[in-house]
Amino acid sequence: MFAYSYSRYGSPDVLEKIEIPTPAPKPDEVLIKVHATTVSAADWRVRSLTLPKGLGWAGRLMFGITGPRKPILGTDLSGVIEAVGDKVTQYQPGDAVIGFPGADLGAHAEFVIMPAEGKLVRKPDNISFEQAAAIPFGATTAYDFLVNKTQIKAGDTVLINGASGSVGSACVQIAKHLGAHVTAVSSGSNVQMVQQLGAERVIDYRREDVTALGANFDVVVDAVGTLPWSRAQHLIVPGGRMLLIAGKTSDIIFGALKARMKGKRMIGGVASESRDVLAAVVDLAERGVFAPVIDRCYPFDEMRAAHAHVDTGHKKGNVVVFFTGKNQSNALE
Ligand SMILES: NC(=O)c1ccc[n+]([C@@H]2O[C@H](COP(=O)([O-])OP(=O)(O)OC[C@H]3O[C@@H](n4cnc5c(N)ncnc54)[C@H](OP(=O)(O)O)[C@@H]3O)[C@@H](O)[C@H]2O)c1
Repeated sequence: MFAYSYSRYGSPDVLEKIEIPTPAPKPDEVLIKVHATTVSAADWRVRSLTLPKGLGWAGRLMFGITGPRKPILGTDLSGVIEAVGDKVTQYQPGDAVIGFPGADLGAHAEFVIMPAEGKLVRKPDNISFEQAAAIPFGATTAYDFLVNKTQIKAGDTVLINGASGSVGSACVQIAKHLGAHVTAVSSGSNVQMVQQLGAERVIDYRREDVTALGANFDVVVDAVGTLPWSRAQHLIVPGGRMLLIAGKTSDIIFGALKARMKGKRMIGGVASESRDVLAAVVDLAERGVFAPVIDRCYPFDEMRAAHAHVDTGHKKGNVVVFFTGKNQSNALE
């Protein structure tokens, strides 16, 4: 099988297309023929070792000190079960699935092994393989922060910074679905798209200063890393919460302490990856409540170009890499 591999941290040029033996599933595993995957912000961070400030050495310990420990990137996949291990009863060859290897990586390959009980669900028939691959990374992060960690409720006022990215575009849709009133922050070229996703008001960060909005929000979400506690605190009502999805380690630690002293709460850290959360967001997509935004689709052979686009830091939603089928554009475009 073919895969993209890298042996040193760096630009998209470190990626090499290689041919390696197709693995065989163990008794409790499935072998998936990948139809589509994504290049996520995590792929960019791990490939280039561009980690949030304060995580440098921890990151090297986690991902490999002198070079990458896991040579194949890729956090998301959609595909079809090719083979199952002896003990697997829930899937059979031919089943279409959505997988979220997440931090385990490995989806930039023609075939991927996953535990049958892992972060894997059936792909609904009304979702294409390209859309399916674009669901896990952004939507599971948004769901875990907004639903599991924060319990956003109808009527809450929510400010979402970075609303046009993979995580932000999912946050807007999920917050809207929960009945929240969403104010979003994006650049001018993405204002219309973010409005279509459900934002009632959109601030163009290049023209307006979001910190001048006043104390209007029950919840402030930073999915970029430009709105830390020091800039956002006065926007949050007493008893309100700040979700620091992207930001420096020191902002998470000291922000949390300062928030507590002001009777507010800061929630940061890493989204928990689970099959339950994946199933919840796939259900939202099947019901048409959530539609992953797709910026561009690249054929597998153009993996480096897909990474280069993600490296700009200005993708809209998700960048998909496909093996088979036609290039699919987003219904919202
Ligand atoms: N805590 C966790 O567990 C967790 C999980 C997933 C991701 N993350 C982190 O969350 C961040 C977002 O991930 P992602 O996948 O959504 O990234 P992404 O899709 O690459 O985000 C790109 C978007 O950010 C917007 N943007 C750039 N600068 C901005 C600014 N100054 N103000 C507002 N928007 C701006 C861009 O919009 P314009 O083109 O309009 O500028 C673009 O649409 C990353 O840092 C990622 O590492 C954390």
